[in-house]
Amino acid sequence: MNYIHSTAFTDAIRVRGLTKSFGATRVLAGVDLTVPTGSLLALLGPNGSGKTTTVRILTTLLAPDGGTATVGGNDVTREGVAVRRMIGLTSQQATVDDLLTGRENLELFAGLYHLGRRRARQRAAELLERFDLAGAANRRVGTYSGGMRRRLDLAASMVSEPRILFLDEPTTGLDPRSRAELWSVIRELLASGTTILLTTQYLEEADRLADRVVVIDGGRVVADDSPAALKRQVGAERLVLHLSRAEDAPRARAALGVPAQETALAHGVTSPHEITLALRGPEHLRCALNALRRAGIGVEHVELRTPTLDDVFFELTAAAA
Ligand SMILES: Nc1ncnc2c1ncn2[C@@H]1O[C@H](COP(=O)(O)OP(=O)(O)OP(=O)(O)O)[C@@H](O)[C@H]1O
Ligand SMILES: [Mg+2]
Repeated sequence: MNYIHSTAFTDAIRVRGLTKSFGATRVLAGVDLTVPTGSLLALLGPNGSGKTTTVRILTTLLAPDGGTATVGGNDVTREGVAVRRMIGLTSQQATVDDLLTGRENLELFAGLYHLGRRRARQRAAELLERFDLAGAANRRVGTYSGGMRRRLDLAASMVSEPRILFLDEPTTGLDPRSRAELWSVIRELLASGTTILLTTQYLEEADRLADRVVVIDGGRVVADDSPAALKRQVGAERLVLHLSRAEDAPRARAALGVPAQETALAHGVTSPHEITLALRGPEHLRCALNALRRAGIGVEHVELRTPTLDDVFFELTAAAA
């Protein structure tokens, strides 16, 4: 399968104008994204934004309504067999069997790929070693921790040595340590030349792993940038001013030079009493409070918090509106 390693194409994944509806619900309304070979793209979005739908289309489990998508240079609708030959998928729901041991699970997967018994045993042993599961290889998966399960899921998707890997929310529900362990495994896969498309709801995860971040919301791409650029856009810290009287909010916004917050309100991000600003250095806090005092606007209390995904979406959707 030397063609997989050829330099004839430099984009492992190319998606243009992808659309998909379920009944009357339009989930993807024209999504574009590109994943250069050997890089990691994080697809970010809130619940129901179409991340899994995109992954299912790219892994040929679901047919798109419109647009084009190629994976490893092959069209996902017309050349599904070739696509499936070069990809691995760790889906959002675990695919391993609780009643089998880690080793048995991997040997079963190897069997599905027609590796032959001897090669299957070998491959399972390699993967158990690589994903730090050798010590638990002969235990039933039902006794594994969440982090170990996810590592086994990942190992199972690597049985066929795919060059392109899809990871659908690989670390959701894991504790910080298991998440960090999984991140280092993902980094190793990347270092060995695997192209990865990963979906996540964690901005931090995208920041740690991704060369590029695509944010989808409302079926469309609302950002496509490097993590650094996205963070610059989101800003460092958030300053939340709780006003004594909600009716002062429009005057307060004018005094502070903050645009109207209809979008944030619509998303339930803020209450009518609150004004949220991206903090530009420590002086900004003093200036903001002074501006409100000069305007005779009472402030109940002040809060500083790190940006959340909501902030990203608010800024991005506000910018797009
Ligand atoms: N087979 C289906 N039939 C009908 N509706 C579906 C189907 N699959 C997905 N949807 C709907 O499409 C929308 C997008 O779902 P999708 O699973 O792609 O979102 P997601 O971004 O992966 O969300 P999450 O973060 O919760 O995993 C949701 O509103 C979902 O209910
Ligand atoms: Mg999903």
